[in-house]
Amino acid sequence: MSVKILMVCLGNICRSPLAEGILASKLPKDKFFVDSAGTGAWHSGNQPDSRSIAVAKSHNLDISYQRARQFKVEDFDSFDYIYVMDKSNFRDLIRLAKKNEHKEKVEIILNELYPNENVDVPDPYYGIANGFEMVYQMLDEACEIIATKLKTNHR
Ligand code: 4NP
Repeated sequence: MSVKILMVCLGNICRSPLAEGILASKLPKDKFFVDSAGTGAWHSGNQPDSRSIAVAKSHNLDISYQRARQFKVEDFDSFDYIYVMDKSNFRDLIRLAKKNEHKEKVEIILNELYPNENVDVPDPYYGIANGFEMVYQMLDEACEIIATKLKTNHR
């Protein structure tokens, strides 16, 4: 049975698709399953934002096959680890979680890099031109730590 990790942001078209692609690329596929979702449903069924696809491609990563979906309460049971991109995503999921066991699965992804600081991965959707590359770099560093931990804890 594989270990399941879910990456969550607001739209599931900019940040969490990158986080999904980056983490999946660092883990063996036979043991780990990585997915992503958005707290909002506006982009359900859509490909990642073209700027996320492009920045991933510039790092030899294909995320164009991904399709956005909304987070659902059943994800709390289906997934072992849930990483959110920012504090707003964190609040949204904690509101949806009815059991402590579910709340405990939710972690702010950059706390892996900067423990307890609750730093946000900035939403690049309306942002500056190199915002997507910045987001890629932050997620790559965090996912490197996450992948190392997961491979150690699930040998
Ligand atoms: P994401 O970025 O949460 O990183 O996917 C966003 C994309 C779209 C919207 C918000 C955030 N939107 O409001 O459409």
